[in-house]
Amino acid sequence: METKNILEVKNLCTYFFMDSGVVKAVDGLDFVLEEGSTLGIVGESGSGKSVTSLAIMGLLKGTTGKVVEGEILFDGRDIVPLSEEERRRIRGNEIAMIFQEPMTSLNPVIKTGEQIMEVIRLHQGASREEAKERAIQLLKDTGLPRVESMFDEYPFQLSGGQRQRVMIAMALACNPKILIADEPTTALDVTIQAQILDLMQRLKDKVGTSIIFITHSLGVVAEVCDHVLVMYCSRSVEMGEVKTIFKNPAHPYTRGLLASIPKLGEHVEALESIPGNVPNPKFMPKGCKFAPRCKEAIEKCSQMEPPLFDLGGGHKCRCWLCEKEAADVRSSGDGAHGDCGDGGGRTSAGGGVNE
Ligand SMILES: Nc1ncnc2c1ncn2[C@@H]1O[C@H](COP(=O)(O)OP(=O)(O)O)[C@@H](O)[C@H]1O
Ligand SMILES: [Mg+2]
Repeated sequence: METKNILEVKNLCTYFFMDSGVVKAVDGLDFVLEEGSTLGIVGESGSGKSVTSLAIMGLLKGTTGKVVEGEILFDGRDIVPLSEEERRRIRGNEIAMIFQEPMTSLNPVIKTGEQIMEVIRLHQGASREEAKERAIQLLKDTGLPRVESMFDEYPFQLSGGQRQRVMIAMALACNPKILIADEPTTALDVTIQAQILDLMQRLKDKVGTSIIFITHSLGVVAEVCDHVLVMYCSRSVEMGEVKTIFKNPAHPYTRGLLASIPKLGEHVEALESIPGNVPNPKFMPKGCKFAPRCKEAIEKCSQMEPPLFDLGGGHKCRCWLCEKEAADVRSSGDGAHGDCGDGGGRTSAGGGVNE
């Protein structure tokens, strides 16, 4: 089956230029988003997930941040060099975003319904009546009860889950090709989280939007994503199909994240399986950025940063322990199998996907 990449991020470098120095928030990031699929981006706080989405959205204006290198190909066209006006047009119509705390992105002094109508009118040039009709339908699509009365309420009168649904309705008002959801469920309780995830899934199936789902939880990724990108310290450390990553995680960091997914009824302290902290961006380790916390690190790891090794079937991993497996995959030519040589007897799942 032919798959098209609706988004290709190539060697993206986004730095913040502060008086105190340069913060390399995203540094040499590569990934693709296939049309109609959901990509999960995971990683601890500060790994560059939000900055990646702001760079894609073109929302770094007003910060000291800048895309200093790399390309963001949307539908085959690099959007990094485009003017602010062209970026705004794409942002409104083709790439939409929902944020972690919807209260900060909804206008507190404008009634909820008016805000959705405004988006629809702005992007589709609809009349007031048409916009209202469409807004009500969108809100109903999100499963909100008593939509008509909510229309005349202010955002603060709604619950967190209701506000998130309103944000999703607004994001979908323009039938975007890509929806970026940056930790949209983190601030919600578990039941509402599940409902929001289910809602996004249904809307994706209905509208065909491709989704980038940012979360710090691999558990959430397992539920809603087709592919996953694991970020650590401004870079990708592993990526691939969700089923491959869950079955054969290649990077010790990914394995640590997987081990920290709470099992049903079990309480797990955040990331207890990965001791230590993310390094200070101003004092980055010379070799692999994860080496100081890695139980499996070998000498090479602290000396030289590994490249992103290709393990076949779209599975890639930035870890020296994968060097041999990647070489085997290269020599076998098809990426059908390989041995990581880590004693774990891993084989890359392949999954029948060609690159
Ligand atoms: N507006 C900003 N000014 C300066 N540094 C920033 C800004 N936004 C983010 N950063 C820095 O960029 C890095 C990545 O941040 P972010 O993308 O928000 O992480 P994540 O979303 O993965 O938690 C962090 O070191 C953060 O301090
Ligand atoms: Mg973030």
